[in-house]
Amino acid sequence: MLSYQHGFHAGNFADVHKHLTLSFLLESLNKKNKPWCYFETHAGTAYYDLNGEQANKTAEYKQGIESIYKAPVGELFDRYLSLVKSINPDPNKLNYYPGSPWIAAKESRDGDKIALMELHPTEYQLLKGRFSSNDNVAVHNRDGYEGVASLLPPKPNRGLVLIDPSYEIKSEYVQVANFIKKASQRWRNGCYAIWYPLLKAGNHREMLHKLKFSEVGPILRAEFYVKSAADQRMYGSGMLIINPPWQLDEKLQSVSDVLYKQLAEEGAATPLIDWLVAEK
Ligand SMILES: C[S@@+](CC[C@H](N)C(=O)[O-])C[C@H]1O[C@@H](n2cnc3c(N)ncnc32)[C@H](O)[C@@H]1O
Repeated sequence: MLSYQHGFHAGNFADVHKHLTLSFLLESLNKKNKPWCYFETHAGTAYYDLNGEQANKTAEYKQGIESIYKAPVGELFDRYLSLVKSINPDPNKLNYYPGSPWIAAKESRDGDKIALMELHPTEYQLLKGRFSSNDNVAVHNRDGYEGVASLLPPKPNRGLVLIDPSYEIKSEYVQVANFIKKASQRWRNGCYAIWYPLLKAGNHREMLHKLKFSEVGPILRAEFYVKSAADQRMYGSGMLIINPPWQLDEKLQSVSDVLYKQLAEEGAATPLIDWLVAEK
C-alpha cells in the first residue's frame, strides 16, 4: 500500500522543522575535511512545485515555508533558507521547495556519497531523473529499511541516515525502532535522524519507549507544536537525533522558539527539546 505522496505536504511546518534540522546535521559533517555518507530510507522526489496541483490542494506550505521565507527569523535560518532560495530561479519568489535528498546533494562535496531509497514507482522515477547527472548519488527502488541496512557499515565511515516514513500504518513506529536497533548494531557511530508526526492518537510513544530502552544513544528529542494536542489534525512535528553533533540541542531550541512565534496557533504548547537518552 503506497498511497502517500509527499507533494501534498511539501514545505509544511513539519518539512521546515525536519529540513532545518537536516541542514544543521550536514553543516556539522562539513566542518571536517573528511568525506561522509548520507542515506535515506524514504526519499520522496526531492523537488516540489508549490504552484502544482498537489501542493495547492492542501496549501500546507502556507503554514510552513511561506510564513518564514521572507520573515526576520535570524541567522540560524540562513543556511536552510539559502538552500530553499537556490532551488528557486528567482529567489525573491517562492515557487519551488526542495526535498531532503536535494538538500543533501546540494551540501555534498567531492568524495561525499549519497544513497536514496524510494519504493513508490512513480516517485522513484522522478527522483532518479533529478539525479541522473549526479555521480555521487545512488537512487534505489527498494524498501528503505532493508536497503539502507544492507549498505551499513559504509565507507567512508562517518555520516548520517535520515528515516522519514509516512507512518500510514500504525506498525511503522515499531518498524522504525527495530530498524534503528539493527542499523546501529552494524554502524554504531553513525548519526540517525528520525522524523515522526504528533497526532492525537499518540502512536509515536511506543517508538520512543522502545528506543529509550534499546541501548542506543545518546538520543536528542526535538518536538515543535503548531496546534493544540487535542486537534484532530497533525498538531506537531518530532525529530529524534541519535549521536547528535555538539550544540545541536541549543540550535534546535533557538530555531524552535522562532518557529513557535511565526507558525504556532493559539493553544499550541511551547517547543520541547530534551534528551530521550542522556549523553554519557
Ligand atoms: C515523507 S515522504 C519522504 C520525504 C522526504 N524525506 C523529504 O523530506 O523530502 C515518504 C516517502 O517514502 C516512500 N515510501 C513509503 N514506504 C517506503 C518504503 N518501505 N521504503 C522506501 N520508501 C518508501 C513514499 O513513497 C514517500 O515518497
